[in-house]
Amino acid sequence: MRHDEFSRRLMREHVLTANDLIYPVFVHEGQGRVPVASMPGVDRLSIEELLKVGEQALELGVPVLDLFGVPEASAKTADGRIAWAEDGIIQRAIRALKARFPELGVMSDQALDPYTTHGQDGLIDESGYILNDETIEALVKQSLSHAAAGADILSPSDMMDGRIGAIRAALEAAGFIHTRIMAYSAKYASAFYGPFRSAVGSAASLGKGNKYSYQMDPANSDEALHEVGLDLAEGADMVMVKPGLPYLDIVYRVKQQFRRPTYVYQVSGEYAMIKAAAQNGWLDERAVAMESLLAFKRAGADGILTYFALDAARWLRETR
Ligand code: PBG
Repeated sequence: MRHDEFSRRLMREHVLTANDLIYPVFVHEGQGRVPVASMPGVDRLSIEELLKVGEQALELGVPVLDLFGVPEASAKTADGRIAWAEDGIIQRAIRALKARFPELGVMSDQALDPYTTHGQDGLIDESGYILNDETIEALVKQSLSHAAAGADILSPSDMMDGRIGAIRAALEAAGFIHTRIMAYSAKYASAFYGPFRSAVGSAASLGKGNKYSYQMDPANSDEALHEVGLDLAEGADMVMVKPGLPYLDIVYRVKQQFRRPTYVYQVSGEYAMIKAAAQNGWLDERAVAMESLLAFKRAGADGILTYFALDAARWLRETR
């Protein structure tokens, strides 16, 4: 069966298409494009540049852009209140994208880390411990402001307990009945997020701090199923596992157990590793990236958040 291309194609079980891809982008207050040093090929974008990327995504058939905000460092506060400002960077970015490309899916991140002086995803007490319930109130405000700006999908990435239920209830009460929620359900306290924290500017704020009291312990997997179950019961439409390749067992178990729309995030560190090896001539970037994306599909993911999204869509087009 493996002898010819036709019979290999005939028995192929899984296929990756542009429909499976979500492209994460960083939107900053500055002008133009500013490269992220640890993520070659990824830039922080002004809203004007974001619109060009939106057009490319539509043209390539990538269904959704996922927006992360990069505020001015001077605008950060302990409570991260610019996260829900009506004229905040993400709120303006969502409005600009939806006005220009109504048919493009726009997803946005809910967490406070780019906006807080301490770089944690929520509010903290004097000892630095994250305050779950107070944080949920802030996340609800952030979520409503994104929904009001026109976000199609909210994606709370903070890992507070009970936030999906609170956000869903607030959306219903405000009449946002079409807003979808993709929950970062099984989000691990991972060292693979390093380049992302540089990109949004939370690395310096976080310093030697860590997120062990709310993100999951990489040693656990039954706990991931518990987290997914809670988020679905609270009203999540989609669940996510993060990071990606080192956590394929979690993707597989989540899909097998729940059979619900399941997503995986190939995070910044995974992207950086492939890029760095490719730049050294040690790996074939395109082949390794496409093999990784296919592996997510094989494990059961319905879609993948990846910084390779536009490249992968182009490569898929070339191969056809
Ligand atoms: C923050 C957030 C992180 C990522 C997405 N949202 C980093 C973190 O939790 O510290 C990581 C994404 C990536 O590494 O590509 N709420």
